[in-house]
Amino acid sequence: MTDKIILPEHIGIIMDGNGRWAKKRGLPRNMGHKKGAEVFVDISKYCKELGIKWLTVYAFSTENWKRPKEEVDGVMNLMRDYLKNMKKAANEQVAVRFIGDKTPFDADLRAMMEEAENADVGEVITTVQIALNYGGRDEIVHAVKEIAKDIAEGRLSAEDITEDTVSARLYSGTPEADLIIRPSGEERLSNFLLWESAYSEFVFMNVLWPDFTRADLDAAIEEYSKRNRRFGGV
Ligand code: FPP
Repeated sequence: MTDKIILPEHIGIIMDGNGRWAKKRGLPRNMGHKKGAEVFVDISKYCKELGIKWLTVYAFSTENWKRPKEEVDGVMNLMRDYLKNMKKAANEQVAVRFIGDKTPFDADLRAMMEEAENADVGEVITTVQIALNYGGRDEIVHAVKEIAKDIAEGRLSAEDITEDTVSARLYSGTPEADLIIRPSGEERLSNFLLWESAYSEFVFMNVLWPDFTRADLDAAIEEYSKRNRRFGGV
C-alpha cells in the first residue's frame, strides 16, 4: 500500500471492453454497453465521494459511427436513459457536460443534453464530461477554425497565438488530464484528449470496463500516487 494517496484533479477513462465482455457471455454487444453504462454511473458517484473534480469518459468517438446502426442506436438510447434517470435521481453536486460535436445527434437527444448541462445541481463537487461524437483531432481542428475566424474578423492577430489561445477553444472545459485510465488490456489513446494528455499519467488495466469496480479505480489512483511521489522530489 502506498501511504500517501494523491488525488488526481482530472481523471479520463476510455471505457473499453464492452463488446468483449458481452461476447464472453454469448450476449449481444449492446448488453456490454448497458452494463458499461451502469458501471459509469457508479464510478461517477464514487468520484464525487472521493472529491475528484473532473471525470471525462469516452462514450462515443467520431469513428464509432462506422459500427452497425443497431449498436449506434443502442448507445444513444443508453444516453437517453441515463439523462432521464439523472433527472430523477439525486445527482446533486455532480454537473454534466458533453464534449464533442453535437450537431449530428437527434433533436430530442440534443435537447436532453442541453437540459442536463443547464441543470442546477448546487455546489459542484465533480463535473462529469461525457465525450460523445468526440475525437481529439476533431477538437483541435475545431479550435483552429475558431482561431482562423477570430483572425479573419480582427479579434486576434497571428503573433498573439499561444498555447492558451488553443486551450481556450477546446470543447473540454479542462485542458489537462492528470490520469488517464484504459481498461480492457489495450494500450492506446485512440484519439482521446490528445491536447489535454500532454503530461498525463497513463494506467492500463486488464479488466474489461463492465467488470471495472471502485477497487479498480482505487488501484489506478494508487499507481498514480506512486508515480507522482517518485517524480516529485524529496
Ligand atoms: C468501447 O468498447 C465502448 C464504446 C464504444 C461505447 C461505450 C459506451 C458506454 C459505456 C455506454 C455509454 C452510456 C453512458 C450513459 C455514458 P468496445 O465496444 O469497443 O468493446 P470491445 O473492444 O470489447 O469490442
